[in-house]
Amino acid sequence: MSIRVRTVRNTEELARAMGAIGHYFGWIPTAEQGESFLSYLPLDRMHAAFDDGRIIGGAGVYPFELTVPGGPLRCAGVTIVGVQPTHRRRGVLRRMMTAQLADVRERGEPIAALWASEDTIYGRYGYGMASQCVDITLPRDSAELRPGLPPREGQVRLVDHDEAMREFPRVYERLRRRSTGFVLRTRDWWSKRNLDDTAEWRRGNAGPLNRALLELDGGPAGYALYRVAQHQTEFKRSLRVIEAQGIDARATREIWRFLLAIDWMDEIEARLLPVDHPLWQLVARPRFLGMKVHDGLWVRPIDIGAALSARAYARDGRVTLEIVSDPLFEENVGVWTIADGVARRARRRPDVRLDVQALGSVYLGGFSFAELARAERVEEAARGGLARADDLFRTDAAPWCPEIF
Ligand SMILES: CC(C)(COP(=O)(O)OP(=O)(O)OC[C@H]1O[C@@H](n2cnc3c(N)ncnc32)[C@H](O)[C@@H]1OP(=O)(O)O)[C@@H](O)C(=O)NCCC(=O)NCCS
Repeated sequence: MSIRVRTVRNTEELARAMGAIGHYFGWIPTAEQGESFLSYLPLDRMHAAFDDGRIIGGAGVYPFELTVPGGPLRCAGVTIVGVQPTHRRRGVLRRMMTAQLADVRERGEPIAALWASEDTIYGRYGYGMASQCVDITLPRDSAELRPGLPPREGQVRLVDHDEAMREFPRVYERLRRRSTGFVLRTRDWWSKRNLDDTAEWRRGNAGPLNRALLELDGGPAGYALYRVAQHQTEFKRSLRVIEAQGIDARATREIWRFLLAIDWMDEIEARLLPVDHPLWQLVARPRFLGMKVHDGLWVRPIDIGAALSARAYARDGRVTLEIVSDPLFEENVGVWTIADGVARRARRRPDVRLDVQALGSVYLGGFSFAELARAERVEEAARGGLARADDLFRTDAAPWCPEIF
């Protein structure tokens, strides 16, 4: 078997490369569907693996921004990764990941991020689990807000696709710039992904997409996207919250007040919430949230100097990290000192030792150095080193990526 890996050259090849992961969803993408991805997945960001001229694997990148502590940063959003079952475990994924990450580095994108289909796959390429997310299932009869909150404020309206296209992106954009984990959504991204209700598979046995706009003080302040699912076998209805955002604490309270109070539902489901979502404090009975925690974003520092210099730190100060290994980029290995917000190679004695995966885990502030040390992923190399590192890397909110890309 001689496998060749290169980027695709036309929409037909793009569709066939997407078909490798499509196989596992029961989806054979057409050239037209390939074309509709082009505005956020350029041809030269989709690698394909060829066996004797036939495409048997694919791995793509959305070249977008991910908000890191301090603001948005260029990021390779890795996606649509698959190898046909006829070619599994012969090193095809490894070949594609190696080519893709070399290309990301050449383009100067300081980090890559992805959602992992399986948590066992990506560590070997230098990705570390960087955030956690929570799914909830709350029985409607335990879904009261806590007593003592202010009475209802503002108003919620159900809006059509066009009005949602005008208002929701503006609310999201205000949040994005200050919310670690949010990704850049272009207008195309919004219309083809977040607000699209034409694709049957998006419905997942539920009804049409509802778009609720919250207005406070005469202006848009939040939104919710949700569907109602009537269970097939039981006389039971679920409210499936796809995304709910408020620009501040008041707006968050009011959009959730609306969602939790929709009549005749048996339960409210929401996915991909951050571990510190205000809902835990807003509801009267947090025990009934039925939380399930799982891994969220995985982050891969590509160019450690650039990545560390691009994020903001909780305070002035200095910390020295020794990166002991990187499975792909030897250039990242060595001692780095962060001082005045800039990372430079150094000869100092390190405060902590870690590999590039562990650096990915602490990069967004989703895990602390101390937490990683307790699991033997980070080693304290000088007394007080963990505390010095955590003092700088600490963030005031858990990273939150509200959608799987
Ligand atoms: C996951 C998938 C892409 C792996 O492709 P592959 O070509 O079989 O992988 P490779 O042969 O290159 O294996 C690379 C390494 O990953 C390991 N690996 C691959 N798939 C794995 C899995 N599902 N779980 C754990 N390890 C896995 C291999 O053992 C190998 O390890 P090594 O380098 O230490 O020897 C492929 O099985 C697939 O398409 N699965 C279904 C779709 C999917 O999950 N895609 C990922 C979307 S995020």
